Amino acid sequence: MKATAENRYAPQGPKGSWLSGNLMEYRQDPVGFLTELQKDYGGVAQIRFGPQKMYVIYDPILLKEVLLTKQEHFIKLKAFKEARLFVGDGVATSTGEKHKRVRKLMQPYFTRAHIQTYAEQMVQIVNDELERWLPGERRILTEDISNITFAVIAKTLFSLEDDGYARAIREPYELINRMCSERMRSLLPVPLFISTAKNRAYKTALNELDQAVYAILQQRKNNPEQGAGDLLSVLLSAKDDSGAGMTDQELRDELMIIFIAGHETSANVLSWAFSYILQQPEVEEKLYEEWDRVLGGSDPTDTTYMQLTYTQNVLREAMRLRSPSFFTGRSATADVEIGHITVKKGQSILFSPYAIHQNPEYFPDPLSFIPERFENDLLKRIPQFAYIPFGGGPRGCIGNHFAMMEMVIALCMIGQRYRLILAPAHPPIEMEALMTLRPKHGIQVIVNSR
Ligand code: HEM
Repeated sequence: MKATAENRYAPQGPKGSWLSGNLMEYRQDPVGFLTELQKDYGGVAQIRFGPQKMYVIYDPILLKEVLLTKQEHFIKLKAFKEARLFVGDGVATSTGEKHKRVRKLMQPYFTRAHIQTYAEQMVQIVNDELERWLPGERRILTEDISNITFAVIAKTLFSLEDDGYARAIREPYELINRMCSERMRSLLPVPLFISTAKNRAYKTALNELDQAVYAILQQRKNNPEQGAGDLLSVLLSAKDDSGAGMTDQELRDELMIIFIAGHETSANVLSWAFSYILQQPEVEEKLYEEWDRVLGGSDPTDTTYMQLTYTQNVLREAMRLRSPSFFTGRSATADVEIGHITVKKGQSILFSPYAIHQNPEYFPDPLSFIPERFENDLLKRIPQFAYIPFGGGPRGCIGNHFAMMEMVIALCMIGQRYRLILAPAHPPIEMEALMTLRPKHGIQVIVNSR
């Protein structure tokens, strides 16, 4: 195209089909599509899903404008409306004053200082899980780890012990996760009022999920003395400026988002981390060396976990290569200049932490698993938004310190107790891009005593 004053800076992108634009390529392989775009078009690309034109931003300088300096002109991606069916309008999806109020309410529960009070409970939960493992058996590590991360959220934030809640939430969520991802990638998802077998199954699962969360709320309302001072009690007693408390629907939405955002992401990172560790003996050796040196066989504590710097770097590298939040996005609420492009009111921007983390300028040999790359303050030497597993700005992950602590604790406790090997005849370890990025067939291991 000949450069003119109008199009000189117009970001380019793949042509796609006249009707669906680039949707088919995206549907077939969302992660591959978003990664290739960066290689072909650099810092920003333009794509089209049906009639909707969008920008995909990779340049950390531009991303900083979207997520931080001009963030007031953006809301969460409009395409997430499908996900709102089950997450509702909680802290991860709400906008404006409502978002600010709830985020402020929740923030004290996620500060670096406060999460340390959860360390003992986390250790206890991991110990309980490991008690069930038998040397020599084959286990689906991914499921065991999800048990841990779910129980951690349930216990630390909502004072729930009974794993009946975990089943009641996780079982319907499995189907919802799949259906929701499928519908988000469809140009015209079949409206839910049309009674297809898939729609009926989806609606049943949505209903079951609702019932499970409402049951937790009801149980606490009946026993308000339980869990005094936990996050649930604060949500239950919160009042807005007019003195009104949250409705049941609002409470349900906040609980739901914490359960969903809080357990699956950490479980995926831990599973991916093990998949690399078990295939790279030199990483495993360095981990054992660190655990022996710092912990000497003891369980980690609220202070020793911070000294496990190599363990943290292993997790950072797993999040770089397999960012669970493989894409997210924003929609503009007004015309706004981002670098040299004008994003029109209503237009959407996508960004992919997964793809951004593969920029060789900041991460040489980007496809290799090299935890050492994070040494010597790498994150201070690269642009602020070049490494964004937890997003960034005021809508960045509220649970980043929480997740890091629980992942370090779980990783070193599993590794100190058992020597894992990948199970024989393991299915290929492939990515499955649903709402988050997870290992398609799970990670299966043989558990040996250390
Ligand atoms: C390794 C684990 C985790 C990863 C990789 C992760 C990733 C992310 C990312 C990328 C975002 C921002 C999305 C965007 O900008 O559109 C986010 C937001 C969020 N995360 Fe996490 N997360 C993790 C763990 C957790 C945990 C443990 C919790 C809670 C216990 C949590 C709760 C949330 C919430 C509530 C938001 C929305 C924040 C807002 O919009 O104000 N996450 N997370």
